[in-house]
Amino acid sequence: MSQGQVLPSDFFADTEISGREEYLRLHLNENPYGPPPGTVEAVREESARYLNRYPDSECRDLREGLATHFGVPPEMIAVGNGTDELVLVTSMTFLREPGTSVVTTSTTFPGYVMSAASVGATVATVPLSGAAIPADEVTDAIGRGATLAFVCNPLNPTGAVLDGAEVTKLIDAAERAGTVLVFDEAYMDFAGRAHEIALDAVRAGRRVLVMRTFSKAWGLASVRMGVAIGPADLIAKVGATAGALPFNVNRQAQRAVLRALEQPAYIERVRAENARARELLCKSLDALGIEYAPSVTNFVMAKVPGDSVRFTARLASEHHIFVRNLDALGLPGHLRISVGTEAEVERLATALTALLQHH
Ligand SMILES: Cc1ncc(COP(=O)(O)O)c(C=O)c1O
Repeated sequence: MSQGQVLPSDFFADTEISGREEYLRLHLNENPYGPPPGTVEAVREESARYLNRYPDSECRDLREGLATHFGVPPEMIAVGNGTDELVLVTSMTFLREPGTSVVTTSTTFPGYVMSAASVGATVATVPLSGAAIPADEVTDAIGRGATLAFVCNPLNPTGAVLDGAEVTKLIDAAERAGTVLVFDEAYMDFAGRAHEIALDAVRAGRRVLVMRTFSKAWGLASVRMGVAIGPADLIAKVGATAGALPFNVNRQAQRAVLRALEQPAYIERVRAENARARELLCKSLDALGIEYAPSVTNFVMAKVPGDSVRFTARLASEHHIFVRNLDALGLPGHLRISVGTEAEVERLATALTALLQHH
């Protein structure tokens, strides 16, 4: 395979190629441990009985299950075809009027800016402070009157997380300015309970939206399930926009997530295994003299010597390992590496050793 074939020309083009068994997929922050027990059977059963039938457009059972799981009433839950769709639908909902604006960080999940652009809103991006989320600067930008703010916490791609005081300061600023503040917590399941400040705030009635996904720690990326949790009036507005897509969440996804929610121990196991493998990855990077940012997630941002575009291409073509090159996110020289299993970390470490010897 030539380097041209393995180097994606856009951000997601490599998904298909890396679907082959021999490639190690460390570029999409997927769960390497497989889906929760029973979910494959749930999908199969639902398909066998109802493949010819539309799903419940209101997702009633699912929203009730999620409401119990997150400790809020069902009116405070919206679901979508992945968080991807919820980010777009939220942008469509709150950025309808002329003159609306979005604030987010300069280096983050591209969906926020792409969604804002698709509805023609103005975007203000705040530079990171090193690898950290620039909480004070985002707070100031909200105070200047943004309509909508997306804060990715923990932050993709650096793995940093806000502390409780920073989360509270952002919520205070958003309430004062009337900004719809969204915390995208796609990776919060890896960080653990102590960091779940925004969800506590939602439960306490604060005006903030929290987004979660079943694609990462929950190991269900393929079924596409994202969740927004927040005040009932904001959720109703998001739901009204999503009404244009009445069957966006399919039957298999609804059943699989309900089955997954019956097994809270699964998520504990994934968090523990990921933490162990992440420690091994960090130790391996230390041993190789590669700098990295501390992470609470299932990925680590590392700085490689030389050109990271070439480094990424060589990892793919010579070692069949995909990682995310962060050039496109404004971090030249940096890679985002998904943690994987301990065996996968060892395979990556062997490949990195070989590449550093011949770079
Ligand atoms: C920060 C962040 N938000 C949202 C998503 C999209 O997740 P989903 O699979 O739920 O659409 C991702 C996926 O990589 C992500 O990293």
